[in-house]
Amino acid sequence: MSDDRLIVALDVADALAGLELANKLGDAVSFYKIGLGMLTGGGLALANELKAEHGKRIFLDMKLFDISATVEAAVRGLAQFDLDFLTVHGDPHVVRAAQEGKGGKDLRILAVTILTSLNRDDLDSGLMKPGKVQDLVLERAENAFAAGADGVIASPQEAALIRSLPAAAGKLIVTPGVRPAGSPLGDQKRVTTPAEAIAGGADHIVVGRPVWNAPDPQKAASDILASLPAR
Ligand code: C5P
Repeated sequence: MSDDRLIVALDVADALAGLELANKLGDAVSFYKIGLGMLTGGGLALANELKAEHGKRIFLDMKLFDISATVEAAVRGLAQFDLDFLTVHGDPHVVRAAQEGKGGKDLRILAVTILTSLNRDDLDSGLMKPGKVQDLVLERAENAFAAGADGVIASPQEAALIRSLPAAAGKLIVTPGVRPAGSPLGDQKRVTTPAEAIAGGADHIVVGRPVWNAPDPQKAASDILASLPAR
C-alpha cells in the first residue's frame, strides 16, 4: 500500500466523478475523504466501492452535530459501513454520543476543533468566545480527547501545539488546510505546506483542490508524497 499519510479529499460532483479521479490517481493514493458535498451524489456507495473493490482506506467527513441521541443513532447507522475515520464536531456531548454509537467497530471518531477556513473575525460572527484561535483549538482538542475522541481535525498551524498535550498521546491528528508551496489558498486561511504539517505532528494531511484541480492529479499527489519527511 502507498504512503497513507496523504488523504485526498474527493470533493467532486458525484460518485462517478470520484471513481474516475480515484482511477486516475491509481496506486499513488491509498486513503480518500468523502464529504458532505458527495452525500447526495452516492458518497456512501463510492466509499463501499473504493474499500471493497480497490482496497482503499476511507474517511467519511460528515462533521456531525446534534443532540446526543441523534448523533448516536447516526453513528450507529454509519458504523455498519466499512469506514476508517468519521468526523463529528468536537463538543464533548457529541464525541461521547459518537463513541456510544460506534459500539465495538474499528472506526476512529475524529473531533473537529475549529474549521481551518475560519479566523477570529469568523468566530466573532459565530459568537464563539473571545481568545486567540490557537488557544480555543487547544481547549477544544483537550475537551474532545477527554470525551473519548480517537483524534482531532485541526489546522496544521496548531498540530505541534496539540501534539504537545499529554492527552494527545496515542491520538490521531489530521490536518486539512494544507497547501504545497505556490498553490492557491482558496477559502483556507490557516495553512502550511504538507511537509510542515507532518513535521509538526500531523499523522495524516487532507488535500483536495491542489490534487483534483491539477492538470495531472497523479503527479500532484506523488509530488506531495515525495515532499514529506521520511517516516
Ligand atoms: O481543497 P482543500 O484542500 O481545501 O480541501 C480540504 C478538505 O478538508 C475539504 O474537503 C474540507 O471540507 C475539509 N476540511 C477542512 N477543514 C476542516 C475539516 C475538513 O477544510 N476543519
